This record gives sequence, C-alpha cells and structure tokens, in this order.
Amino acid sequence: MHHLNKTPPLVNRIHYNCTKITTMAATKITINANGSIKVEGDFEITDRSGGVYDLAGREVIGLCRCGQSKNKPFCDGSHNAAAFQHDAVAFALPPKKQA
Ligand code: FES
Repeated sequence: MHHLNKTPPLVNRIHYNCTKITTMAATKITINANGSIKVEGDFEITDRSGGVYDLAGREVIGLCRCGQSKNKPFCDGSHNAAAFQHDAVAFALPPKKQA
C-alpha cells in the first residue's frame, strides 16, 4: 500500500563529530516578532513572471512584512522606524476547504 507523503522535503544533516543525525526542512521560514520573514536553506525568490531575484550569494534573506521597506520585497530595517508590531506565535490553520 502506498502512502502519499505530505510533509515538506527533508534534508538529513550529519554531525561528523558525533553519531547524532538530525532531520530538518530544506527551507526554514521564520516569522520574526515585529519584523521580517527570515528565509534560509534551499530556496529561490521569483517575481510573478518567474524572474529570479539575484541574491548575490546570500543564503539567508529577510522579506518585508510590514510594507515599509524601500527595497521590497526585502527587509531594510524600516519596520523599526515604523514601529511595526506583530508578535508571531505559531498556530494551526483550520482544515482546507474542499473544492
Ligand atoms: S519587515 Fe523589515 S522593513 Fe518591513
């Protein structure tokens, strides 16, 4: 019997100095309190036409969620001057509606 795996792709990370093996998502997105959305891991950021933003080798990026950045979609720290407030705490969404 086949099961569909609905979890995100996983990457095994091996610690060579010990026997501990941890598993983590290939991409981690952190909603920072009162600030940006931090994206790290394996990702690319595109515009709606599929054009890829050149991140100049950055492997961690902050996306603006306050709407005040002058460098959208990237965070430029303007959330501080704007006193943006949202203390993000993880929660569960309700079940998806059936089509
Ligand atoms: S979240 Fe940092 S400038 Fe908007």
